[in-house]
Amino acid sequence: MKNVLIAAIVLSALLNGALFVLLIRSKRNTPNPTVKEEFFTSRIVALENEIAGLRVDNECVTDQLKSLSTLITQVSKDDLVGKDTFFNEILRGLLTLFPEADSGYIAKIDRNDWSFVACRGYDFERLKPFRYRREFFGLFPVPTELDNASDALIERVPPYMKEIFSEAFPQVSRSLTMDLEVGGQVIGNFCIDIRKGNAVSFSERTLRGFRDYCQILASLMTVQKYIVMQGRFQKDIVYSMVKILEIYDSYTKGHSEHVAMLAEQIGKTLGLPVSDLQTLYWAGLVHDIGKILVPTSILNKPGKLTLDEYEMVKKHPVWGYQVLNTSEELQEIAFIIKHHHERWDGNGYPDRLSGVDIPLLSRILALVDTYDSMTSDRAYRTSLSPEDAKHIIARLSGNQFDPSLVETFLSLPSQ
Ligand SMILES: [Fe+2]
Repeated sequence: MKNVLIAAIVLSALLNGALFVLLIRSKRNTPNPTVKEEFFTSRIVALENEIAGLRVDNECVTDQLKSLSTLITQVSKDDLVGKDTFFNEILRGLLTLFPEADSGYIAKIDRNDWSFVACRGYDFERLKPFRYRREFFGLFPVPTELDNASDALIERVPPYMKEIFSEAFPQVSRSLTMDLEVGGQVIGNFCIDIRKGNAVSFSERTLRGFRDYCQILASLMTVQKYIVMQGRFQKDIVYSMVKILEIYDSYTKGHSEHVAMLAEQIGKTLGLPVSDLQTLYWAGLVHDIGKILVPTSILNKPGKLTLDEYEMVKKHPVWGYQVLNTSEELQEIAFIIKHHHERWDGNGYPDRLSGVDIPLLSRILALVDTYDSMTSDRAYRTSLSPEDAKHIIARLSGNQFDPSLVETFLSLPSQ
């Protein structure tokens, strides 16, 4: 019994000892509640600040992407690409992405030739006519910040350029510039400025994003260059076709170009969109291209045509349509020239369409084609005066021609 009592006392002492040790350890491992709160509070505040900063950055990036997307959509429009205003629109859009910049320019560089293609805050008309040596401006393979760039440039150019630059350049305090490069070749330069007395410096965001925007701008410049080249190529091909027709049919010399210009003039007076004016011009140039398939003995016959000969000549709108319709690019033009001999009263050819069923551009071509034919010499008759031709056109209003177009045509200042 004594042994049992001793064992119970020893066991109790051991348990109490263990509990005491555990209590001490537990106390040692638990931090002070005040320190813990402070630690977590400061981390939470730091994280909140970080998240708020990221949110602002994210909103700015989203806004910039939206602006950039709008800009690319705008400058990709058919009626803008290839035009002088193309780079002005790009520059206007780019400057909205850098709110602290209040002026800037885009320059084109061709080997050592530097020319301004768009300016904001500069006198573009004064700068545009000249080509400058690139070395005056310097090399900027990376984004470069410059102080008083225009003053420094005016200092180092030859005397004859000092006057131009002094008059055309704004007083700027800070500029950010970079050369535009594609495939290792420098094709241009982009510069944005802060005028004297305005913002102090470029924002961190502008400095970070400038290189990316320069790369986008370089791509847009390249696209523009190829589109202009492609346009020239197409134009050359169409002109060649028209020249071949003029050699073939001596009486059409100059006729196609007159028809194209006059048709475009009517289109402008009617307020047609630029894309329609372009179609009208090209359709005017090639409207008689199908005549290449009509024998020269018929085309250049001095006397009256037989019924069979006339029926063959009447096929030229459809033949022209078939030739041009094989090209996807020329299908709209093909459709317009197919119907350039339809009449308002439905007695024309090839499909005897009438009234507004005849495409508007074909109705315009029909009118100016007849007018220009009447006012130029033909194998079978001499030309009429513009006044006499206009009287005949007026008489045919509502029969052969669309009355509203006749009214527009007769209101034009002179043909
Ligand atoms: Fe014709």
